[in-house]
Amino acid sequence: PRSIYFTRHGESQYNVEGKIGGDAPLSAQGEKYMQALPKLVQEKIGDTPLTVWTSTLRRTIQTASGLPYEKLTWKSLDELDAGVCDGMTYEEIEVSYPEDYAARDDDKFNYRYRGGESYRDVVIRLEPVILELERQENILVVCHQAVLRCLYAYFHNLTQDELPYLKIPLHTVIKLTPKAYGCDEERFALPI
Ligand code: G3H
Repeated sequence: PRSIYFTRHGESQYNVEGKIGGDAPLSAQGEKYMQALPKLVQEKIGDTPLTVWTSTLRRTIQTASGLPYEKLTWKSLDELDAGVCDGMTYEEIEVSYPEDYAARDDDKFNYRYRGGESYRDVVIRLEPVILELERQENILVVCHQAVLRCLYAYFHNLTQDELPYLKIPLHTVIKLTPKAYGCDEERFALPI
C-alpha cells in the first residue's frame, strides 16, 4: 500500500524567537534535522519511489534540500498567512490586538487574521493539494504546522474544533497509510 509522509520544516530562526510567519532560514537545530532527514527517509521508505512536496517558503525547501527525490513546490502549502501579525510573537499580538487575540481564542478555526487567513481559508486552499494527494503514490509533504493540522485532520476525519489544536511536533515524520476507512499511523521522531 502507498503511504503519505508529513513533516514540518526543521526548526527555523523564527521558531527560536517565538515569531509567527515570515520566511526565516533554519536554525542550527533545524539544519541538523535537514542533514538527518535523508537517512531516516531512506530507512523507512527503502527504494520505493517517492515525490517530495514543499511549500514556496525557504524553511521547507531547505529542509528537503538533501532528499534525493523528485520535488515539487506548492504555493498552496505555504503557512497560514497571519496578515498584519506576520513576524510578531504571541505576546506582541496580545498587546497590539487584544480583541483579535481573544476572538481567535474563542473560535480558532474561523478567526481570520487582519489581512491574512483563517484555518477555514487554509482548508479551502488545500482542496487541490488533497485531491492530488488522493491520486498520487508515495508523497512526502514538507510544510508547516497549521497546514499539516489541516491535512492531518482531513486524513483522520477530525473535527474543525480539534483541528487548530493538533500537535504536530518538529523533527518528526508522520507516516499515514490509507485503508478502506481511515488511516494507519506511525511516527518517527529524530532526537534533535
Ligand atoms: O507554528 C505556528 C503555526 O502557524 C500555527 O500556530 O497555533 O497560532 O495557529 P497557531
